[in-house]
Amino acid sequence: MAKLIDGAKAAAALRASVKQEVAELKARGVEPALASVLVGGSAASKLYLKLKAKACREVGILNVRHDLPASASTGDVRSLLTQLNMDSDVHGILVQLPLPKAVDRNSILSAVDPRKDVDGFHPSNLGRLALGDETMPPATPKGIVKLLEAETKLKGKEAVIVNHSIVVGRPLALMLLNRDATVRVCHVHTKDLTAHTSSADVLITAVGKKNLITAAMVKKGAIVIDAGVAKTKDGIVGDVDFAAVSKKAKAITPVPGGVGPMTVASLLENTVAAAKKQSN
Ligand code: GUN
Repeated sequence: MAKLIDGAKAAAALRASVKQEVAELKARGVEPALASVLVGGSAASKLYLKLKAKACREVGILNVRHDLPASASTGDVRSLLTQLNMDSDVHGILVQLPLPKAVDRNSILSAVDPRKDVDGFHPSNLGRLALGDETMPPATPKGIVKLLEAETKLKGKEAVIVNHSIVVGRPLALMLLNRDATVRVCHVHTKDLTAHTSSADVLITAVGKKNLITAAMVKKGAIVIDAGVAKTKDGIVGDVDFAAVSKKAKAITPVPGGVGPMTVASLLENTVAAAKKQSN
């Protein structure tokens, strides 16, 4: 049976360390603050923001939510970001994705001050990642890499990622390359997914499709990270057929309790790092 990778436990340790750093900042008169921007927003986005707000409260980071209507224009969102960029009491800014179709995502991500870009989606932060500088890595890949590094050496490993979004797949590919893994990125147009996944030493999936990854698609002894989130009548599940893949993999993350809490904890780390830099 595979070892269960306990993301909830690892995230609790990260939160404890962030809490300590927040206390040190507050003792110097700095109150770390995160501004969360939601434009319209699905039930899932609202839930993610609630989880992030709860985690902020737990470690003492001030979280201020800014809700814009689904009808907001690119200009409306950019105006809010200009205000938040200028506000020296705000250290971190996150714009919850996805944005409504009428809003130009890349224009919005480029409008966040890179020093406050705790999501790491600004072109200069993604560019830094490509250069091997992980000053502000996106939260989900950061959390995934932390879990992986606790399990294995990544150098020379065959890593396969099933997801090519800017939130997970693209930055994660860069971070794994920074650690000298051999990286393949699969997505919805990949012709033969099994041909790729079945040779992976490290398999990371983030699609949101129940049982996308079956035991036949996984190499014996692989490390499997499931960042998928799918709502079913039995609750939240990941992409991996957990029961069957657990019998074949060396280690596996559960859903829930795997990548999710690590993402939130990594966002807290980025926010405190940003606050520290801006107060020095
Ligand atoms: N949507 C799904 N995941 C994320 C995330 O990590 N950050 C933001 N801003 N939006 C998301």
